[in-house]
Amino acid sequence: MLITRTISKTRAVIAQARAQGERIGFVPTMGYLHEGHLQLIDIAKQHSDFVVVSIFVNPTQFGPHEDFASYPRDFERDRKLCEARGADLIFAPEVSEMYPERSLITFHIEKLADRLCGARRPGHFNGVVLVVSKLFNIIQPDVAVFGQKDAQQLIIIKRLVQDLNFPVKIISAPTVRESDGLAMSSRNVYLNPEQRAQSTVLYRALQRAKALIESGERDAQRIISEMEKLIATASEARIDYIEIVSVRDLQPIARLDGQVLIALAVYFGKARLIDNIVLEVAGDQVREIPALP
Ligand code: PAJ
Repeated sequence: MLITRTISKTRAVIAQARAQGERIGFVPTMGYLHEGHLQLIDIAKQHSDFVVVSIFVNPTQFGPHEDFASYPRDFERDRKLCEARGADLIFAPEVSEMYPERSLITFHIEKLADRLCGARRPGHFNGVVLVVSKLFNIIQPDVAVFGQKDAQQLIIIKRLVQDLNFPVKIISAPTVRESDGLAMSSRNVYLNPEQRAQSTVLYRALQRAKALIESGERDAQRIISEMEKLIATASEARIDYIEIVSVRDLQPIARLDGQVLIALAVYFGKARLIDNIVLEVAGDQVREIPALP
């Protein structure tokens, strides 16, 4: 496994792989890797011959009062995990390599960033599409894998590729969870034992929503109220949002129909945890979609 720190070296290594006829797979990450990230590598390997993992805590997607400085970092641990999982290259640039100057060209996202995390983290998704566009241009992957854990991000990236004609196929991966249901996240290390024990309430709230919908409930507000009640039983939990939106445009819906995203963000102390499920509702049929096509 190779490690590169500069854009020029990365391009040279990948050009060599491509010259040998290899398809390039790409897994962008911010490091502090867990099994959720590693399963993205597995999926990338199934669809390509040379897998690039980027590890870069991207400053442009953090707000001024967010956790950029304290975001967990451990390159040596990440390197071992990537190597064991069969990645071919880690691209781990410094901030100065990716942003020698503040980018004067930025994105404006309509509709898709209005709600959910986009509403609570102004500018966050502009920073995500900026860095992902730069990484796509540096790596020029044939396929790139993103997790449904960050469903809004996945949907925005799919639209970025469509609107800007990036020649890359986006593949989505199901959310990987701890055995008690908590979605794996680099930010879970912020939880103290009490908060960690209570944090399972996110997944339980999503399962409660699913059960209500399976028993015929279609009123979004009633489902959200039930989820709020359940989360309120966790003394350390502070709800940032619970929303039910259509997958198509990420706008809220009053009655459930078609593909719907049920998403929530909840603070436990300084840890802001997110989770979601996607359901397809057609008449009285309800089906979970673990990875959006
Ligand atoms: P990061 O949070 O490190 O996540 C990297 C990728 O791993 C994303 O596609 C995310 O959805 C996926 N992922 C995280 N936790 C997961 C889990 N429990 N199960 C499945 N997939 C999971 O998302 C980012 O970094 C950044 O915004 C990035 C895209 C790298 C741009 O900076």
